[in-house]
Amino acid sequence: MAKIQAIRGMNDILPQETPVWQYLEQTVQNVLSAYGYAEIRMPVVEQTNLFKRSIGEVTDIVEKEMYTFEDRNAESLTLRPEGTAGCVRAAEEHGLLFNQMQRLWYRGPMFRYEKPQKGRYRQFHQIGVETFGMAAADIDAEVILLSARLWQTLGLLDSVTLQLNSLGSNEARAAYKEALVTYLAQYREQLDKDSQRRLESNPLRILDSKDENTQAILQDAPVLADYLDEESRAHFAELTAILDQAGVEYEINPRLVRGLDYYCKTVFEWVTDKLGAQGTVCAGGRYDGLVKQLGGKPTPAVGFAMGVERLVLLLETLRCVPEALRQPFDVYLAAESKGFQSEVVLLAEQLRNDLPGLRIRIHCGGLKNISQKAKQTGAPVVVLIKGSAENNLSATLWHRDEPVFDVALDTLAGKIAEISQHNA
Ligand code: HAM
Repeated sequence: MAKIQAIRGMNDILPQETPVWQYLEQTVQNVLSAYGYAEIRMPVVEQTNLFKRSIGEVTDIVEKEMYTFEDRNAESLTLRPEGTAGCVRAAEEHGLLFNQMQRLWYRGPMFRYEKPQKGRYRQFHQIGVETFGMAAADIDAEVILLSARLWQTLGLLDSVTLQLNSLGSNEARAAYKEALVTYLAQYREQLDKDSQRRLESNPLRILDSKDENTQAILQDAPVLADYLDEESRAHFAELTAILDQAGVEYEINPRLVRGLDYYCKTVFEWVTDKLGAQGTVCAGGRYDGLVKQLGGKPTPAVGFAMGVERLVLLLETLRCVPEALRQPFDVYLAAESKGFQSEVVLLAEQLRNDLPGLRIRIHCGGLKNISQKAKQTGAPVVVLIKGSAENNLSATLWHRDEPVFDVALDTLAGKIAEISQHNA
């Protein structure tokens, strides 16, 4: 019978890969906690309408990429393609938004029916940050500085670039859309097929087109910055002033519009040229209208999400993964010969009591060539337990393949602590 395989674009993350994921997740968590952010966990399935009403009916995600199905009750449900909509729904539903300020984060799988390629999957993982109740540019600056600190901590800062733009108020964007459509309509026939379609449905997305002809036509198109309202202009100036003072470099990209409809004012992306076509590792912006659009009171909001797979790829590509992560244990403990296996189990328990945090793996199974097998595990410290003529137990220690000494069991914990520089 044919074996059942994983679904295309949905990956297993294997034991040799998980240490990098854990390292990344732990580092993000530490940085987020240093900024006072609290974790929220939402379901992976929501009512389909939540995504239609937030991301926008005429976006790629909603038109082509959602995993939507009817449950047994004929209710239309969707596997979440992103986290912002669910986070707003949850925060509103549980009364976290009205008259409050919130700094939240989440992580987990997201689902989009895209064409899989390196860095683009159908099940992928995001770590997202959403803040609510803060309207001024200081919070935009905070979320950007937080992400910059993360790249710094991970050793990635030199390999990513911050792109920034302002989309202005809804009114400013509507005026700009009209000017853009008037301009592009003159060249309708020369635009690529997608852009022709978007001319009616979502003209701003044409700015994102990769088609060379369309790009050439866009050279002389009206620029969004010229249509910005005064408030958005001041907001953007304040943000860039803080970033300048903090020494965070950025490029202003007037074509950056993002693929989800809920944004206004600030939008940004962190991009790298080290991963090929899928170079955006983190993206977000302000979405002051979304809470109201989903039935809540008007609530300013800004956030971003990073793509975990892309960041793991980047860490691997740039060799920014600490070597120690590759080894899942510090000590390999085995019996030298038959008859001492139960002592090994009990001794390992005792060592775990004495040296909390020390990672010990015991050998279970055959003992043929045990000292060689034990060293081949790559453990920095190998301990073999043996019995003496008087049937007293003792241990032989190796540190990185060098024989260290024979020790009595009552001094074993101290010796291991000493050679592995672990605090007893
Ligand atoms: P997004 O730009 O759609 O924004 O996704 C954010 C990040 O998720 C991307 O920059 C990328 O790193 C990663 N990503 C997206 N699609 C895929 C995929 N198919 N495979 C692998 N990685 C992917 C949002 O999702 C917004 N909710 C971000 C946000 C939060 N804005 C405000 N708050």
